Amino acid sequence: MSDLISVQTSTEKKYKLHFGFDLSEELERYVHSYSSDKAFLMVDAFVLEHHRAHFESVLGKKFSELHIFEVPRGEKAKSFSVYQKAVDFVLDKGVERSTPLFAIGGGVTGDLAGFVAATVLRGIPLIHIPTTLLAMVDSSIGGKTGINHTVGKNLVGSFYQPDAVFADVKYLETLAEKEWVNGTSEVLKYGMIHSPEILEQVKSLLDNNEFNIGKAWLPLIQESAQIKANVVEEDTLEAGKRAFLNFGHTFAHVIEREGAYNEYSHGEAVYAGMIAAVYASNMLGAEIELSNLLQFKSLYTFSLNKISSDAEQLTLQMRSDKKVKDEQIQLILLKKMGSPYVYKVSDTEFVEQSWNHALKIFE
Ligand SMILES: NC(=O)c1ccc[n+]([C@@H]2O[C@H](COP(=O)([O-])OP(=O)(O)OC[C@H]3O[C@@H](n4cnc5c(N)ncnc54)[C@H](O)[C@@H]3O)[C@@H](O)[C@H]2O)c1
Repeated sequence: MSDLISVQTSTEKKYKLHFGFDLSEELERYVHSYSSDKAFLMVDAFVLEHHRAHFESVLGKKFSELHIFEVPRGEKAKSFSVYQKAVDFVLDKGVERSTPLFAIGGGVTGDLAGFVAATVLRGIPLIHIPTTLLAMVDSSIGGKTGINHTVGKNLVGSFYQPDAVFADVKYLETLAEKEWVNGTSEVLKYGMIHSPEILEQVKSLLDNNEFNIGKAWLPLIQESAQIKANVVEEDTLEAGKRAFLNFGHTFAHVIEREGAYNEYSHGEAVYAGMIAAVYASNMLGAEIELSNLLQFKSLYTFSLNKISSDAEQLTLQMRSDKKVKDEQIQLILLKKMGSPYVYKVSDTEFVEQSWNHALKIFE
């Protein structure tokens, strides 16, 4: 028998999510905990154009050396080439283990900058400043970082938790309508898998013409982030419950791929995917009103008629999702509103029917 040495590591990390309208002073106070005089900012190009002076003023008081890397807009920034440029930039400017990196932008910037922070010198301090609804309620929480590969999205990356997240809804003032819709799908998802009253709250924002008002969204953003934080706390490395966050996503990933990642936004695909997942849930005995989701349909203007594959082919494609284990499709379904479960598909017939249903709704 061999000798054994056991290693207990202390990788558990606690961090705070800050929410509010104009968090400049809070951020200014927070950054004083860093010993470094230098900081890196990886900033979405649009955000940089509009807020450069603001970030230079808020962070410049603490850091005498601010090095700003502009992240190109769009999913294409999550590539090996932009990752390489960012790593070159950070190393050229002289990074140390204690130099913090601020990821300022939507999920694209957060994922890319998070991966840079995770890998340079095997990890430097990371602070997320999400500036899209989606990034505030989803991507900035939980530590998933990464870039895309030609084989698929998000296939290269790591789990790397930030030191803190500052979600300042002031930045949402410039967010385009389609990006609000994009983030709304994830908020609706939290309603479906956890807190059904979220759906009513989104509805009342719409009814009150507050759909694109960051301040009005603040409680909902906080509640959504809290749900994600709770799930992540229980299952950081996605061995169990974290999979519930993929409600609608196994369908959505196929829709995104079918549209070559430019026809349908992630949020549109997730919305259609959730409708397919509710239909599938009902076929297995749940009694969920589709109107819970369909009441938001006017927000979504896409049609799935550009998808040329039929339901059988779409179902087959679900097998190549990276979350598929042993070639078996795993769906997140609902027993009832707010009660998700993992379902391993043996009979694909009902998945095909669910696809047909979604395709018909969005024809
Ligand atoms: N890490 C995770 O857990 C996780 C979770 C969900 C999604 N994601 C990833 O997130 C990415 C999508 O994120 P996203 O939807 O935020 O997209 P994004 O980062 O591309 O941002 C969307 C658009 O909004 C613009 N923008 C950003 N902030 C703005 C502001 N304040 N005002 C005006 N425009 C602004 C950007 O320039 C961009 O054009 C995907 O790559 C996805 O894989 C990651």
